[in-house]
Amino acid sequence: LTPERYPVRRLPFSVVSEDDLAALEQVVPGRVITDPEDLEAPNLDWLRTVRGSSKVLLRPRTTQEVAHILRYCHERNLAVNPQGGNTGMVGGSTPVFDEIILSTALMNQVLSFHDVSGVLVCQAGCVLEALSQYVEERGFIMPLDLGAKGSCHIGGNVATNAGGLRFLRYGSLRGTVLGLEVVLADGAVLNCLTSLRKDNTGYDLKQLFIGSEGTLGVITAVSILCPPKPSAVNVAFLGCPGFAEVLQTFRTCRAMLGEILSAFEFMDAECMKLVRLHLGLSCPVQESPFYVLIETAGSGPGHDAEKLGCFLEQVLDSGLVTDGTLGSDERRIKMLWALRERITEALSRDGYVYKYDLSLPLDRLYDLVGDLRARLGPSAKHVVGYGHLGDGNLHLNVTAETFSASLLGALEPYVYEWTAGQRGSVSAEHGLGFKKKDVLGYSKPPEALQLMRQLKALLDPKGILNPYKMLPTHA
Ligand code: FAD
Ligand code: MLT
Ligand code: ZN
Repeated sequence: LTPERYPVRRLPFSVVSEDDLAALEQVVPGRVITDPEDLEAPNLDWLRTVRGSSKVLLRPRTTQEVAHILRYCHERNLAVNPQGGNTGMVGGSTPVFDEIILSTALMNQVLSFHDVSGVLVCQAGCVLEALSQYVEERGFIMPLDLGAKGSCHIGGNVATNAGGLRFLRYGSLRGTVLGLEVVLADGAVLNCLTSLRKDNTGYDLKQLFIGSEGTLGVITAVSILCPPKPSAVNVAFLGCPGFAEVLQTFRTCRAMLGEILSAFEFMDAECMKLVRLHLGLSCPVQESPFYVLIETAGSGPGHDAEKLGCFLEQVLDSGLVTDGTLGSDERRIKMLWALRERITEALSRDGYVYKYDLSLPLDRLYDLVGDLRARLGPSAKHVVGYGHLGDGNLHLNVTAETFSASLLGALEPYVYEWTAGQRGSVSAEHGLGFKKKDVLGYSKPPEALQLMRQLKALLDPKGILNPYKMLPTHA
């Protein structure tokens, strides 16, 4: 898929030889995968939009093994593609050509958990859902949650600086990640795996690797702060007559729910149509142009229910909301969340997906969706808008039966120019990976790009780590 859609030339890295395979077999015995059938899935991204042709996948178990691998690849000038759960949305997790895939799948051990501070230290390949379960059994929750929880790895989450569904309440991984262990391109191990809340001893180096998408080092372990598990969780799923009402509902919600608000997500009617059509889910409220999912998380069930009740009365009486339903038991909460979380899956069943992940001023957050519907007309199958409204993050997605260069031409650079015109971000939370690397300039000044290149050259002088990703091809 890659060459036609995303023109790019292979850089002069070495090609993996039989001798290389023998040497790597010494490092990770029995865990050098070369069977073409086993390599199919890791060469293809979750959205099925980019495909690499790697002939080798390595499955290290320890940091020392990762260090050996990188030292060897660095010496031999072999390119390496770090891969976690392969759920990334921007083609960063799959090779572009024949890069060696370094999978963290077997690095799945919890190293420690402190049940007073809530600090979890674990290997990078732990699956997010498994970690959630582990800490929940101990009275805590992970500070992040996302629809891909069943497959994504914590190392991949940190490498992409994933936002997700709890961002509104617990903030960015840039705040909750306390320490990292990272193997650098030449195999050196950088152990900054501290569990301290406060540490102002010089530059905060871990921040360089959070959101670096595998281009500066391989994250091998993570220390992360987990909040206590709330004893009362409620979800309200509401229908709104227009986007202006969605915004007013958010405003009212913040004012009336305050400290117990833990999520404010929205989706439009087209999203509801798709989750119904492709996943068989049913809409729990009267059909509406927009739907809002509000979650509260607190410590007093009676207190939270009363607050939520007052809020609902207010938004229903004032006409901001036309219909709503509540969930407070686990089964119903999951059912309501599925409507929002599974939009990504429904879209991928609708055809080829053009995916945009934008940060925009709240007032203009939905304007582009209607604008594009008019601009694209019948050449698009569906144009939908959903996302983390509380974080100012719109997921704008366009589907079509198959990929079409002319539809892409109608979308880009239009979407990016429009976003830059609002001083928005062309990637709010998914990163740049391979597919968005050339649009970085819409959200960052040339001086920032130059500094990024200098940092890359300092940490990975041979450019072996995730080449063709994140940094623009042209200066
Ligand atoms: P991968 O996809 O394997 O890799 C992603 C990037 O990180 C690649 O560039 C890779 O090279 C690099 N990488 C992976 N592991 C390491 C490592 N150990 N060291 C260095 N680099 C590494 N994102 C959000 O922000 N918010 C959401 O709400 C959200 N929801 C999603 C829902 C679904 C259904 C799906 C499919 C994806 C969603 N995503 C979301 C995308 C998100 O980026 C990923 O789900 C997740 O953070 C990536 O983790 P992963 O382990 O799958 O990483
Ligand atoms: C989401 O919020 O559902 C994710 O970021 C995935 C997507 O954008 O589809
Ligand atoms: Zn998202």
